[in-house]
Amino acid sequence: MSNAAKFGKVAVLLGGKSAERAVSLDSGQAVLEALLRSGVQAEAFDPQERSVTELVAYDRAFIVLHGRGGEDGQIQGVLEWLNIPYTGTGVQGSAIGMDKVKTKQIWQGSDLPTAPYRIITKDTDLDAVIADLGLPVIIKPVHEGSSVGMSKVEKTEDFAAAIAKATAHDAVVMAEKWITGREFTISFLNGQPLPVIRLQPPADVAFYDYEAKYQRNDVEYGIPCGLSEAEEKTLQVLCLRAFQAVGAEGWGRIDAMQDEQGNFWLLEVNTVPGMTSHSLVPKAAQAVGYSFDALCVAILEQTLAASV
Ligand SMILES: Nc1ncnc2c1ncn2[C@@H]1O[C@H](COP(=O)(O)OP(=O)(O)O)[C@@H](O)[C@H]1O
Ligand SMILES: [Mg+2]
Repeated sequence: MSNAAKFGKVAVLLGGKSAERAVSLDSGQAVLEALLRSGVQAEAFDPQERSVTELVAYDRAFIVLHGRGGEDGQIQGVLEWLNIPYTGTGVQGSAIGMDKVKTKQIWQGSDLPTAPYRIITKDTDLDAVIADLGLPVIIKPVHEGSSVGMSKVEKTEDFAAAIAKATAHDAVVMAEKWITGREFTISFLNGQPLPVIRLQPPADVAFYDYEAKYQRNDVEYGIPCGLSEAEEKTLQVLCLRAFQAVGAEGWGRIDAMQDEQGNFWLLEVNTVPGMTSHSLVPKAAQAVGYSFDALCVAILEQTLAASV
């Protein structure tokens, strides 16, 4: 595979210091192995263990850091300064995507449907929040991923514990209207939507939580997703607009739900989604013929356009 020589020396950025470090180590290792199998001169680089200034020794970077520090524009900014092409979304889109409230504000301003929400602070009148959003709600840290620190709240008296749990992870916490219905995720490759996947957590969990995501193997992944062809297209077009509105680029994923009336609601954008071989983007890409290795090379190829 001499063709892989065009990439030069590639740093696979993995690990980092966020709450999703363990997930990133798994994703990063899978990407590293895929690139090595494809003949790419790739090396693991954990910015938690080495100074980012050492990145000058590389020709390009494949970012597989999830969460704060790696998915929020910080490492993207370092790479811009060092003039090293990198995969995926740039500084601004990454910073917006990591912030669930800023993302929603942009979607609202673009007339894109996103589940109603309120920011919760010490001074928030919870009765007013319940009057606005109804019950149940889901309490989320604004800058986390992997369902870390989230809880479903069905009764007023459960708010305090849910807010405390979210506050342990983030200074900014939100309540979002609970959407009863079906959950979908829409992956992107080369800036275009892939087939939609339906996620169906087992009946005994309230939502697609950390455990369901990483520690259980009884989540069902529907691909095809069960929507009619026309509805799937509608959701893809909606998500493409949502992806572009926040400035996401290249590859990524949007999580969305469909309520019982059939309306779609955008939840969030992931600019560096999971990349283990059983993650969602690889499943969607596989449906259009990409092996995991081919997907990793295709994502890396996006950095060539940025090279001089
Ligand atoms: N408004 C909502 N109504 C119902 N379930 C939700 C809602 N928001 C999130 N969830 C559930 O919580 C999971 C995680 O929420 P999400 O916003 O995607 O954050 P994360 O960044 O942690 O993936 C979703 O995959 C979904 O199962
Ligand atoms: Mg999500």
